[in-house]
Amino acid sequence: MPKRLLVTAALPYANGHIHIGHLVEYLMTDVWVRYQRLQGRQAAYICADDTHGTAIMMAARKAGVPESALLAEMSAAHQQDFADFGIRFDHYGSTDSATNKAFVYEIWAKLRAAGHIDQKTVTQLYDPTAGAFLADRFVKGICPKCGAPDQYGDSCDKCGATYEATDLKQPKSTLSGAVPELREAVHAFVKLEDFRTIIADWVGRDGALHPDMQKWVRNTFLIEGEPLRSWDVSRPAAYFGFEIPDLPGNYFYVWLDAPFGYIASTADWCAKTGDTWQHWWQGDGVEVHHFIGKDIAKFHTLFWPAMLRLAGHNLPEKIHIHGFLTVNGEKMSKSKGTFIRARTYLDHLDPRWLRYYYAAKFTDGAEDLDLSLDEFTAKVNADLIGKVVNLASRTAKFVPRLATTYPEDGGLFTRAATEGTAIAAAYDAGNTGEAMRRIMALADRANEFVEKAAPWALKKDPAKAADLEAACSVALNLFRQLCVYLAPVLPDFAEECGRLLGTPITRWSDAQSPLTGTAIAEFKPLMNRIDPLKVQAMVDASKAEAPGTPDPGPRTPDAVTDGPEALAAEPLAPIITFDDFAKVDLRVARVVNAEEVPKAKKILKLTLSLGGDQTRTVFAGIKTAYPDPKPLVGRLVVFVANLAPRQMSFGLSEGMVIAAGPGDQDIYLLAPDSGAKPGQRIR
Ligand code: 2FM
Ligand code: ZN
Repeated sequence: MPKRLLVTAALPYANGHIHIGHLVEYLMTDVWVRYQRLQGRQAAYICADDTHGTAIMMAARKAGVPESALLAEMSAAHQQDFADFGIRFDHYGSTDSATNKAFVYEIWAKLRAAGHIDQKTVTQLYDPTAGAFLADRFVKGICPKCGAPDQYGDSCDKCGATYEATDLKQPKSTLSGAVPELREAVHAFVKLEDFRTIIADWVGRDGALHPDMQKWVRNTFLIEGEPLRSWDVSRPAAYFGFEIPDLPGNYFYVWLDAPFGYIASTADWCAKTGDTWQHWWQGDGVEVHHFIGKDIAKFHTLFWPAMLRLAGHNLPEKIHIHGFLTVNGEKMSKSKGTFIRARTYLDHLDPRWLRYYYAAKFTDGAEDLDLSLDEFTAKVNADLIGKVVNLASRTAKFVPRLATTYPEDGGLFTRAATEGTAIAAAYDAGNTGEAMRRIMALADRANEFVEKAAPWALKKDPAKAADLEAACSVALNLFRQLCVYLAPVLPDFAEECGRLLGTPITRWSDAQSPLTGTAIAEFKPLMNRIDPLKVQAMVDASKAEAPGTPDPGPRTPDAVTDGPEALAAEPLAPIITFDDFAKVDLRVARVVNAEEVPKAKKILKLTLSLGGDQTRTVFAGIKTAYPDPKPLVGRLVVFVANLAPRQMSFGLSEGMVIAAGPGDQDIYLLAPDSGAKPGQRIR
């Protein structure tokens, strides 16, 4: 092992909240990094939000805000969720940064200069309402093979067939519901075949990939006589990303810039600490370790080594690839309440329970990991409370200090110290499941010792004071060994043990020699048992967050106090009858076009769709608050449909859109929750 490790987990997309499926990876990586540090190795844990692509652009349009506003909110929410699970990054950046742009421009220049780029015309589905080309996952329709409805543009969930998005029957854009059209555009491709030898050499390196993944890459991509397919790295507007300098109106595909986010985030961190990113990504004495899910293995095992080599950086020492999370044996499901957000979990349960349970399930392979909620409750209660916490709670209160000489224990401490080698090897390999099994086997032996010694009985007999001190000193030292071994998973157990026994745990080798003579502090309960009712409450809460309900977004403080100014500025109007209200025909409408009106400082011309072929034109006085009309396209608004048309100097206005606020920059268009359809009446 070298002295320095640069460790990354995949960069989470900025268009959604962290859920328990994501946490598998961030926790696995956190445990690995903490283990390495305990061994005295220098390790940096780097992450960032993955910000670019169509989805975030559409979310921003829908919310009527610039992408940067969504990114800031989501980054804060992600970081809070991670921190509350004890996941400690050295730096959390963003792929939408000037630093990242510079890295991407640099690789682009190198790709161009070396002749690795091809340009070809591509025919792709295009959403005329959203004004964007559609990636496969933004198209749904009927499977061309088995006829199953509601299938994505690349493969069928029901029969497993793979196909082109253009083969789907009755395709619909998931962005706007519009029927997509075929359109042509020029795309830039990286000629991946140029990098074949680099990729094959890296894949063949000892330890770079788990043997199963190595086989998969070879058998799927590196087939003799079959050139590697070129990689499409550009997307035409509209797209949220970095514009390609020599292809105006085209943007780098999110998967070209995302992995450079690993380096850019390191560089931003180094700029703060006075270090250099080259120190972590180039030269000897440093290893790069990526932790990723098996769904993104292709990007990391083919494209990324090629880009790294061309850029002149180190190739990854190892890519640790894990499987997916299932809950109760099935894919996470919103309707079953098993699609659980990190925040929903935290609202009900202790994060340390999940840290331990996942750790007990991690292997070094890419098989899926199941969170069985019953087993979760039973295992945490049996292992952590029944075996580890109990060891201290049954002994710490009986004696004021540890014996000055470590007592005879029948070889228990020595055997557990020796076992540290196998536990360390399991952690190192990412096989924490194996590490947890070994640790719990040691805990069993320690508990057998306590049962036999029965300090609670010794306590009653003053003549047995020496035996009591010996029994408790052994038990507490065995407890301490367990805390050292569990420290990567449960760092606060180690901290609490350090406080209890007056000597902090700072290194793996702290498990090698017993403590003697130190004073024992007051014992404080380390952890509560899991109450199954709380687990059920979390599942119920997750069900209530099912689709159709609005995304609660990042958390706001529990108590929100709103000032009285807005109401005072415009007191409530006199009461009207329901019939009066019912005269106003309010409808959901989608903005399908938004443009400036020549010479009008305050007006935008909006074309609204009421579904089908029904459209209306509205001249809305909202430009002071929405100076850029583009982001309005695609979003839903509230439309007054039966207002008498009004002839204006720019044209005929056929109704109005509803907004709050006094005017100027304080104008806020109203929007229905997601799921509402254009044309629906609002009452
Ligand atoms: O699959 C994902 O969630 C991607 N956002 C991961 C990106 S990892 C890296 F390459 F940036
Ligand atoms: Zn099918």
